[in-house]
Amino acid sequence: MHWTRTLQRCALPLSLGVAALIGKNPAALAQSDSAPSNQSAASQSSGNEWWRHAVIYEIYPRSFQDSNGDGIGDLKGITSRLDYLYDLGIDAIWLTPIYPSPGVDYGYDISNYTAIDPIYGTMADFDHLVAEAKKRNIRVIMDYVINHTSDQNPWFIESRSSRTNPKRDWYIWRDGKGETATSKGEPPNNWESWFGGSAWQWDEKTRQYYYHYFYVQQPDLNWRNPEVRKAMYGVLDFWMQHGAAGFRIDAVSRLFEDPELRNDPYLPGHNAYGDRNIEHKYTDNLPEVHDVLREVRDVVDRYPGDPVLITEADEPNITELTKMYGHGDEVQLPMDFQIADVNQLSAPRFRELFKEIESNSANGQPEYFFSNHDQRRQWDRYGDGRHNDQIAKMMAVLELATRGTPQMYYGEELGMRTTDPTRIEDVHDPIGKRGWPKEKGRDGERTPMQWTPGPNAGFTSPGVKPWLPVPPSAREYNVQTESQNPDSIYNAYKRLLSLRRTNAALRDGVQTTIDNNDPDVFAFLRRDGNSTVLVALNMSAHNRQVNFDLANFGIHDSTLHPLYSSPAQPPTISSDHVVLAPFAALVAQVQ
Ligand code: GLC
Repeated sequence: MHWTRTLQRCALPLSLGVAALIGKNPAALAQSDSAPSNQSAASQSSGNEWWRHAVIYEIYPRSFQDSNGDGIGDLKGITSRLDYLYDLGIDAIWLTPIYPSPGVDYGYDISNYTAIDPIYGTMADFDHLVAEAKKRNIRVIMDYVINHTSDQNPWFIESRSSRTNPKRDWYIWRDGKGETATSKGEPPNNWESWFGGSAWQWDEKTRQYYYHYFYVQQPDLNWRNPEVRKAMYGVLDFWMQHGAAGFRIDAVSRLFEDPELRNDPYLPGHNAYGDRNIEHKYTDNLPEVHDVLREVRDVVDRYPGDPVLITEADEPNITELTKMYGHGDEVQLPMDFQIADVNQLSAPRFRELFKEIESNSANGQPEYFFSNHDQRRQWDRYGDGRHNDQIAKMMAVLELATRGTPQMYYGEELGMRTTDPTRIEDVHDPIGKRGWPKEKGRDGERTPMQWTPGPNAGFTSPGVKPWLPVPPSAREYNVQTESQNPDSIYNAYKRLLSLRRTNAALRDGVQTTIDNNDPDVFAFLRRDGNSTVLVALNMSAHNRQVNFDLANFGIHDSTLHPLYSSPAQPPTISSDHVVLAPFAALVAQVQ
């Protein structure tokens, strides 16, 4: 990949007729029956809470910045990079788990919810991070891992110690089928772990099975037990009192299982672990999840500062996603996995999904993301192998010029790519070991942040072995190099983040899809009072000639003034058409 192939630039003061486009010889042009969508401004939420206007930045602390030369990122490292984040223009950081953990699932197996893992620092380091972030107007969102603990958590150690222990019922213990004095029999039913194998683990000491949706070392909490709820709500209090701005709630749809233990239905085929595919009908999305979300909301709402709740729940459709908002009394920002996982540059699909979420019946605020610590990075996932940098910039516009709350993943702003291990011996993530080579695990999207072209990309001291290798692409794709190149992906993000902050329509405006039925160009308006911005994304590898019938939106005799465009050559905006280069993105003020 060479920088010369990846051009992009900022606002160009063009002033060409758009009104003249309307109705003019569109026959040879792209389909152009632009019409207002059925979205109504009233259906889109509004308000002044900080999270409506924020850009959230996910940090995987192990991989962001090492301050003590052990090859693992830490809290002091994050604090030392706050100026970078401030300068980039984000508003909040979400820290994936930093609590004491045996590290089987790299922090998602928690042995103590109210402390800091020494590998990351101390509670004083955390308090210092929050205070320094606050000085820069950056909020800190914590990860709330609610479905399961580590098997090394004292709660589970007690629970497994005897059938009569007071904490026995804090986890899901069941008898096996056909158990005898000498044999453990079969697991209670066919439920499967998301990470492979049965979801039931035999425990010889008390001769029962416990349930684990994820790894064996991650026993599920029993959310039907009121003491569990009380303890877990205490965790929220603890971090709110330490200055958290809210929580990202992990794996929330998995909280409850069918009390009758009915078998899940099988689906055709097998997964990467060799198990039969299964529909998690009785282990996912049970209605009781919403009672818990309301209770969690009640707890955080007692604190000032509009604390935010974000859910990780890969809801299969808009109806399920909408339920996460409740009646405004559950979650403010359920992550939109449907949009994240379109996984192809399909203008019709994005048009459809953005319309759906923008007109959701709960008036909920959308939350958009394309990469995270479980997903292969967007540079490769949406890249076509030839125009990846250009596509990365277009995806940045899709994420940052839309109305919802965007959530970035560290290094996305550089075009960091997924760099999988090449040998099973090098894999850290246990699912990669178990599923190799079909499933290589999640190491590839968790590699160290790329700060410089120098040794270890500036992530840790030279000569130290970082916990995951620095990808070779770090030599070109790093903060230092990219900040000197006006056409870099990094500078595209910086400009877009700054535009989003300063342009009223982009910051607050209602989003309306332009229904141009175009197979390649996804276009929409952002409107706030008298200010209108048009965004157009060419999702194809061809030049696309389009017009937008803005008269349908009550806009006449207007001109387009590009605020941002990529690639560097601004699109041709003439009296009867706009020509967008392959994978071009245009953000233009309509005047
Ligand atoms: C969530 C986390 C993932 C973790 C899993 C189990 O999906 O994002 O990283 O492995 O929960 O805790």
